[in-house]
Amino acid sequence: MMISFVWAESVDHVIGIDGHLPWRLPNDMKRFKDVTMGHPIVMGRKTYESFPNGPLSNRLNIVISRNPDYQVAKGVILITNKKQLSDYVKPDEEIMVIGGEGIFKLFTNDVDRLYVTKIDHKFAGDTKMIKIDYNQFNLIEKKEGIMDDKNIYPYTFETYQKH
Ligand SMILES: NC(=O)c1ccc[n+]([C@@H]2O[C@H](COP(=O)([O-])OP(=O)(O)OC[C@H]3O[C@@H](n4cnc5c(N)ncnc54)[C@H](OP(=O)(O)O)[C@@H]3O)[C@@H](O)[C@H]2O)c1
Repeated sequence: MMISFVWAESVDHVIGIDGHLPWRLPNDMKRFKDVTMGHPIVMGRKTYESFPNGPLSNRLNIVISRNPDYQVAKGVILITNKKQLSDYVKPDEEIMVIGGEGIFKLFTNDVDRLYVTKIDHKFAGDTKMIKIDYNQFNLIEKKEGIMDDKNIYPYTFETYQKH
């Protein structure tokens, strides 16, 4: 089982505010869709509740909560610890861990690949990305984000692979 992190962060490592993203960056939403499409996505209960249109389509949505009675939509998997993951994913699958903070923390020692969007702008927030030891990773891809009237902050897409 290969574990990847997928997230977007500001210069100060902010990832969220009041249960949603601090920015609007449609090109990053597209990137998120491309990167995660066809793969199981694993998320914390709060991130799951942050989706305005419910579970994300064409991906197995796996939600982590400490509450075994937490109600999820049809087709969504609820787990209460990371050991249960292996019951729902194939051994050779790339698992996309999409946050938030507590869930990234839970998988810190398991992560093999990082897909990060670095947004070169300051945002107020109440949720930050965990500290990543980039010394353990090689940068394998870096792409400057395209700015336009709908994507008004500078940003780059970076992919890292663990040594
Ligand atoms: N920028 C990005 O890339 C990005 C990505 C994801 C999220 N976000 C933002 O981040 C915020 C949400 O993140 P968050 O960190 O506050 O919440 P979260 O990680 O999405 O969810 C937290 C919940 O996950 C469950 N949980 C956490 N650790 C667990 C463990 N070890 N075992 C079992 N269950 C566990 C608990 O659910 P219960 O309380 O039900 O027990 C906990 O309350 C939102 O603002 C969201 O928009 C941003």
